Amino acid sequence: MKEINSMYPSDKKECYSLIHSQLKSILEDEPYVIPNLSNTSALLNEALADINWVGFYLIHNNELLLGPFQGKIACVHIAIGRGVCGTAVLKDETQLIPDVHEFPGHIACDSASKSEVVIPIHSDGRVVGVLDIDSPITQRFDEMDKEGLEEIVRILETSCNWKDSIFIG
Ligand code: SME
Repeated sequence: MKEINSMYPSDKKECYSLIHSQLKSILEDEPYVIPNLSNTSALLNEALADINWVGFYLIHNNELLLGPFQGKIACVHIAIGRGVCGTAVLKDETQLIPDVHEFPGHIACDSASKSEVVIPIHSDGRVVGVLDIDSPITQRFDEMDKEGLEEIVRILETSCNWKDSIFIG
């Protein structure tokens, strides 16, 4: 597991509020999806403790295709409705999974993963992708993480020009 970056407060609320302001300044005047998602995954990998994968899957040809991420090599294609990511797209709602082994159809890209959170990203009322974070600890993510991460997705939704995304086919 990576070391904890002491720049980020241990208080979750304060930590997310620092991440939100850093993300807004990183994305300022930068509309491009791939660079912005790359920097967002790098930022989250630095800021969040006890995670082993953070990144994005983007809708392309009616499936999820692997996007920018930090962590171990991951599966490239995920069908809508499959796994935690595909379920988040199908239901169009955040999936907060305390124990991935209890989730039917969970796709194990890294066998160390024990809990997971997946948040859908929208443009023009359609789901265009997901933010996916895995942890090697059971019950790593709570309601405060959900709120903090959903705000990150809202910042990305409004800051990026999703219509220029090479992934939108
Ligand atoms: N666990 C995910 C697959 C992606 S990896 O976690 C990077 C899922 O079940 O959809």
